[in-house]
Amino acid sequence: MSFENIDPLEALRWSVEMGADEAIGDQPVDRYAVSDIEAVQTSAVEPPKQREAPRPERVPLAPSQGAADSRAAAAAARNLEELRAAVGSFEGCALRETATNLVFADGNASADVMILGEAPGAEEDRKGLPFVGASGQLMDRMLAAIGLDRSHVYISNILFWRPPGNRNPTTAEVAACMPFVQRHIALVNPRVLVFVGGASAKAMLDRKEGIMRLRGKWYDYHGPDLPEAIPALAMFHPAYLLRSPGQKRAAWHDLLILRARLDELP
Ligand code: URA
Repeated sequence: MSFENIDPLEALRWSVEMGADEAIGDQPVDRYAVSDIEAVQTSAVEPPKQREAPRPERVPLAPSQGAADSRAAAAAARNLEELRAAVGSFEGCALRETATNLVFADGNASADVMILGEAPGAEEDRKGLPFVGASGQLMDRMLAAIGLDRSHVYISNILFWRPPGNRNPTTAEVAACMPFVQRHIALVNPRVLVFVGGASAKAMLDRKEGIMRLRGKWYDYHGPDLPEAIPALAMFHPAYLLRSPGQKRAAWHDLLILRARLDELP
């Protein structure tokens, strides 16, 4: 096969879209300049010192086991610091094996608004903070449009680790993290919740409809350990708005009803 006519930038873009968005070797290898056999040998003869120490063997947990373990660990957390430590030492979600960092939360834990997205992306995984990549920047602009910034909101996700290649989270991964997310909400006890994106809205509201139907409406969120239901709004995910700018009008409507609700708070 000849690689001469391949545009390197296109090839790189394709690799990133396929999920190969991390460099794993210290030195770049020009795989177009070597034969197939050499390419295989280049990786096969990599000196052992450049390789990461092998992780200890882990027996995968049954999906329901992950959720059972996180329920006990989450219930024992008396404050956000303890919850963060409990998530950090939780072994029941395999995503932690491929992620670089735990992404717990950002913003002001005493704010009226708690925003829950889906899962960290590449930038969030690198920095250990939610919504700091391209969709986070749009999120900041959306918040600014209604007079809010990160000091007025508390932000987290329904998953604490990045799914490899930004694939969709599995039901088992969402279920394993859910007790932590519910405890997170109970400890913050915000006055308003915002679920951004279909995965977050469906999981947190326990609904089957997609975000097209769920968005722009208020729901009562009833979670464990809450003194009363919390009003919750479902909105489009900023990543979707970046791909579908025609939906920004609907997103603006949702932002305005959020602003109106906040203005009504006593
Ligand atoms: N998308 C999310 O849902 N969460 C993040 O933190 C980043 C991107």
